[in-house]
Amino acid sequence: MNIVVSIGGSVLSPDDPTRIAKHADVLTSLAESGHQVAAVVGGGSPARTYIETARELGANEMKLDEIGIAATRLNARLLIAALGDKAVQTPPTSYEEASSGLQRGKIVVMGGVVPAQTTDAVGAALAEYINADLLVYATSVDGVYTADPRETEDAEYISKLSASELIDIIVDIEMNAGAGAPVDLLAAKILQRSGLRAIVLDGTDPANIERAVQSGEHTGTEITSGSTDV
Ligand code: UTP
Repeated sequence: MNIVVSIGGSVLSPDDPTRIAKHADVLTSLAESGHQVAAVVGGGSPARTYIETARELGANEMKLDEIGIAATRLNARLLIAALGDKAVQTPPTSYEEASSGLQRGKIVVMGGVVPAQTTDAVGAALAEYINADLLVYATSVDGVYTADPRETEDAEYISKLSASELIDIIVDIEMNAGAGAPVDLLAAKILQRSGLRAIVLDGTDPANIERAVQSGEHTGTEITSGSTDV
């Protein structure tokens, strides 16, 4: 299969080399099983720290996004360091570059691409660009809920939904200040138009990613291209 794994910045922290090494082992194992593997890495707390400081210093939102992108690429370089020569050594700055790295038989790890989005959207766009069979969102939550479970007590877990249904949920969550959606709106819109198959799962244990790809078994949320009742 042709796979994109989008690893949230909160899952892949520079403070935890052991977990980065485990993610690298999973990506390597998937590649050795014959899958074509690309990863997109978020910025996590280093991105937030740099963005907050630059905001206080007066940088505008576009410039803050550029700083965020730089942080995502630094995180990508940590995963590349753990992958060694199995990976393209520099995070690609475009989908075209990422695709040519994959065509050379390498694992590709990238961060952000352009301002005004997050790596959730990069994951979906890369998956669309390379006609991926599966996009895995490895996040710090175990799937999609009807609302943000940290903010809403009666939020219900959803095991399967369509991209259109996901969009409705994200729009509701984003109207609630302070609440966060597991995948952002632009990413969900790319999923909707491309018909990609995606899974949102708990990536704090990298073994969950391997199991989902190799055996199809997971406890996350499956996002389908068709319509499904929530
Ligand atoms: P993340 O993808 O980590 O953003 O990129 P996030 O979703 O806000 O972080 P988490 O998942 O909650 O931890 C970090 C920042 O980098 C910029 C944005 O400012 C984003 O908030 N960024 C990233 C871009 O501007 N463009 C990109 O393509 C990617």
